[in-house]
Amino acid sequence: MKKKSAITSRDLGLEFAAICGKHFLGLEHLHYGYWPEGLAVTMNNLRTAQENYTNFLVSHIPDGVKSILDVGCGSGHTSKRLSDMGYKVSCVSPSPVLSEKVRELVGNSCHVFECKYEDLQTPNKFDLVLFSESFQYMKVQRALDKSMEVLNPGGHILICDVFRKDIEPQPGEKGVGGGHTLNKFYSRAAAASLQPVEDIDLTQQAMPNMDLMDDTLKNVVRPIVDSTMNFLGGRYPLMSKVIQWMYRRRIAKVYQKYFNGNRSSADFMKYKSYRLLLYKSVSRVSDQTKGVIDTGPGKQANQGLALQTGT
Ligand SMILES: C[S@@+](CC[C@H](N)C(=O)[O-])C[C@H]1O[C@@H](n2cnc3c(N)ncnc32)[C@H](O)[C@@H]1O
Repeated sequence: MKKKSAITSRDLGLEFAAICGKHFLGLEHLHYGYWPEGLAVTMNNLRTAQENYTNFLVSHIPDGVKSILDVGCGSGHTSKRLSDMGYKVSCVSPSPVLSEKVRELVGNSCHVFECKYEDLQTPNKFDLVLFSESFQYMKVQRALDKSMEVLNPGGHILICDVFRKDIEPQPGEKGVGGGHTLNKFYSRAAAASLQPVEDIDLTQQAMPNMDLMDDTLKNVVRPIVDSTMNFLGGRYPLMSKVIQWMYRRRIAKVYQKYFNGNRSSADFMKYKSYRLLLYKSVSRVSDQTKGVIDTGPGKQANQGLALQTGT
């Protein structure tokens, strides 16, 4: 029997975000949201931004698609929405905690594969493989190989996620972590016989989320972590010192990654490119760029969509 992969601190972070987001803000999703001009960047509007994003995402599902594999389905609300729209949906979720929540939500309407996508074993084939902010968590090649394995002939891959630009941080700058290099993705996709259909730059619409997250990390999460450490240090000084010493590198990494203020929208704009990418599987790619719609940075990205700017 295959050994289950260990749960990482990143998995725990996603579970924590799902539980707190739902409890405190009524959030249903784990993504950045789509912030059109005019929607004030506040926590109260995050739910609206996330609804905008889901509407935008589903509006890019090509005609003719009947079956969808939602890879890294988070809380399962996108899968549920797709199933309610009449698609035959299956989900992949490696997190036992999130998978349980997904099963409660979708009931028998969607099948949940509780495993990493890379480990998925199924004879089923799908018309579309969806990665809604989950692509960044997998190795590019393994995710593409697995997708080619589970796609029906002529099937599509729809990715909405953050990628890295080919920009090296200047001396003294740390840059912003996370996401695959966009150019690397383009070349791997081309080599995998995937033809680009749509490539939309949504960096402008996603980046406000960074300021919200930065603010929450610095002004809510960090004070909670600091006071918990202080409390433990006072109550159990020896044990606390030992644990802090044992995990000093990991603790330093967490502080550097999440609490150093490098997650602002300005840094995001500089180092990241948030894209909606729709690719079609073809046996031979004759012209990689034929038929691609690139709306450019932020331009026309909200075409044909009623976006909410309320509250
Ligand atoms: C940021 S959340 C996005 C959730 C959801 N798709 C959404 O748009 O709200 C990332 C998701 O990817 C999942 N994930 C992380 N690594 C994965 C892997 N190797 N295979 C499948 N899913 C993975 C996480 O469990 C989580 O559900």
